[in-house]
Amino acid sequence: MTFSVPRSVTAQTRLCAVFGDPIRHSASPSMHNAAFDALNLDWRYLACHVLPEKLDEALKGARSMGFCGVNLTVPHKLLALPMMDSLDLSAQDWGAVNTVVFETQNKEGLWTPVGQSNALDGPVRTRGFNTDADALIQSLREDLTIDPRGARILLLGAGGAGRAAALRLADEGALVLWLVNRTTAKADALAQEIAERFPAVEVRTGLPDTDVEIIINATSLGLKASDPLPLDLANYPLCRADGVYDMVYRPSLTPLLDLAQRAGCCTANGLGMLLYQGAAAWTLWTGQIAPIETMRQALRSEIYRNTIA
Ligand code: ATR
Repeated sequence: MTFSVPRSVTAQTRLCAVFGDPIRHSASPSMHNAAFDALNLDWRYLACHVLPEKLDEALKGARSMGFCGVNLTVPHKLLALPMMDSLDLSAQDWGAVNTVVFETQNKEGLWTPVGQSNALDGPVRTRGFNTDADALIQSLREDLTIDPRGARILLLGAGGAGRAAALRLADEGALVLWLVNRTTAKADALAQEIAERFPAVEVRTGLPDTDVEIIINATSLGLKASDPLPLDLANYPLCRADGVYDMVYRPSLTPLLDLAQRAGCCTANGLGMLLYQGAAAWTLWTGQIAPIETMRQALRSEIYRNTIA
């Protein structure tokens, strides 16, 4: 059943949210609320502007107020790691948290997601997951139509999103990874970690000395109109790549993607990654299969403002 108007909030409405700084660009509320409506769930999803120094406080507040889950975006994905009571293997493996599930302990001592429990008088803990990493791989294949396995990849950014992407791409069997980050020490440390964990993958820092199949922007550059490009085009022109993927999805055509299209590259923005990471988070919170086409349509309407078919 689909509602044409949002459900009203009741005293029993279950709550989820995304925390970020900035946050006003986020399309996550449209996507998640459309999914709640489609399944007739009395749940709502909010977007909260949370400064990095307030992240711990905000997570504790959400836990105390009975929230079911939280998504984390820029710049919280690495900061949240030590704040979690427990880490799922996905967060351990990919080294960043983008989804928090609040879990409650029942009388038998088992931890159950708050959103799937009716007994909410026990202790509550935070459990961190990473749903970004698999979502990126799926979106690269579907939206950029380039298989990361065996590919030479230039990855821009070594924050939370960049770190998860680099480790997951290495696990997927990328041939060569070049890591570029403003804070070079973070790229160096990530390259070192990949060399130790994935010895079959060639990993370097700095710009490639050859053509690549894929360039991925995992920095936050492109969110603001005044942002510089995330790549130094004088030293690495976009025509050296087959495809360019930008995790930024608003604006839908980022300056990087615009230039990439002009250079003849195939391109994709981060809508597909947002969709798949969101669907996985939604399932973790509700325990139900996410209505993926409803979520995709909600995102497209929000991001393209109904200008595409
Ligand atoms: P997230 O958790 O969403 O990945 P993050 O960890 O703050 O957020 O990472 C943001 C990324 O964008 C980082 O790679 C960051 O570079 P630094 O590691 O040097 O901070 C990059 N970034 C943000 N603002 C930038 C800017 N003005 N110039 C270049 N890179 C920038």
